[in-house]
Amino acid sequence: MLFKQQAWLRQKLLVLGSLAVGSLLYLVARVGSLDRLQPICPIEGRFGGARSQAEFPLRALQFKRGLLHEFRKSNNASKEQVRLHDLVQQLPKAIIIGVRKGGTRALLEMLNLHPAVVKASQEIHFFDNDENYAKGIEWYRKKMPFSYPQQITIEKSPAYFITEEVPERIYKMNSSIKLLIIVREPTTRAISDYTQVLEGKERKNKTYYKFEKLAIDPNTCEVNTKYKAVRTSIYTKHLERWLKYFPIEQFHIVDGDRLITEPLPELQLVEKFLNLPPRISQYNLYFNATRGFYCLRFNIIFNKCLAGSKGRIHPEVDPSVVTKLRKFFHPFNQKFYQITGRTLNWP
Ligand code: A3P
Repeated sequence: MLFKQQAWLRQKLLVLGSLAVGSLLYLVARVGSLDRLQPICPIEGRFGGARSQAEFPLRALQFKRGLLHEFRKSNNASKEQVRLHDLVQQLPKAIIIGVRKGGTRALLEMLNLHPAVVKASQEIHFFDNDENYAKGIEWYRKKMPFSYPQQITIEKSPAYFITEEVPERIYKMNSSIKLLIIVREPTTRAISDYTQVLEGKERKNKTYYKFEKLAIDPNTCEVNTKYKAVRTSIYTKHLERWLKYFPIEQFHIVDGDRLITEPLPELQLVEKFLNLPPRISQYNLYFNATRGFYCLRFNIIFNKCLAGSKGRIHPEVDPSVVTKLRKFFHPFNQKFYQITGRTLNWP
């Protein structure tokens, strides 16, 4: 009896033992096969090969943007990194040519939320600065951020809009480039322009004229068209120079006042103009009550507002001067609406 029980126990232990060994062997084999099934590929392997924009998953682009972040910040990726990640410095396919104080920085930063857009962080001033222009197109290209061939580079230099030589120079680089112009109600823009200069003077402890003194000719009591802040706001005059080189279809007008209060629809119009799939959403833009402006949300971790130099408090301006300026700009605005096909309901 005792012998029978011992044999039964031995048999049970044997079964349990082989089960344990079997499970162990199975686990070893499973981990090994998982390892083989999900190798940790180098980035090059995952994204290598020829691809078109259409087959390039935008989520992947977003991932790549993460990788690019450091390169872009320092602009000093090693040759090996550049080769490994298939990076290039591309000439811009679109340029924000102006207008100064129209919201050019906000527009550039907001467009940069799009996974297929890469911004040139600094204003390059290639086409408006003779010294830079003399350095040649390769110098300009080298100033561009690293990007993937499927992405588009965008730069902004608001001085381009008002500088005589620029349209011809840009045309010579790329006659089919897309041109973005962000405008604000002309009098508000002129006051914003003045406020920026005033702040610069105050920083240097210098005194400066009042806006009214600059904007109105004291001898004639008429609007002073020699004052640069006034001239810049005569949008149609500048646009007419550009139209000698580019057809109107190559321009897109962004309503800078609406970009402040309701940025998403304005950005969606730009996405369409640039033939980009709609990727910027309400999630990417949130209103920051302290700042009084919309700020940018790239993902759950990374968000940012524009610098404090954007959104300055304007000085009080004599209402009669504001009225005079608005009356002065009115016919130019009508012409601008007519040429561009975009009516902006300015007073
Ligand atoms: P103000 O400082 O007059 O308010 P630019 O970048 O071309 O210099 O334009 C500056 C203007 O961008 C600011 O003018 C501000 O009103 C406007 N702007 C538009 N959207 C903004 C945002 N989200 N944050 C800060 N400023 C913004």
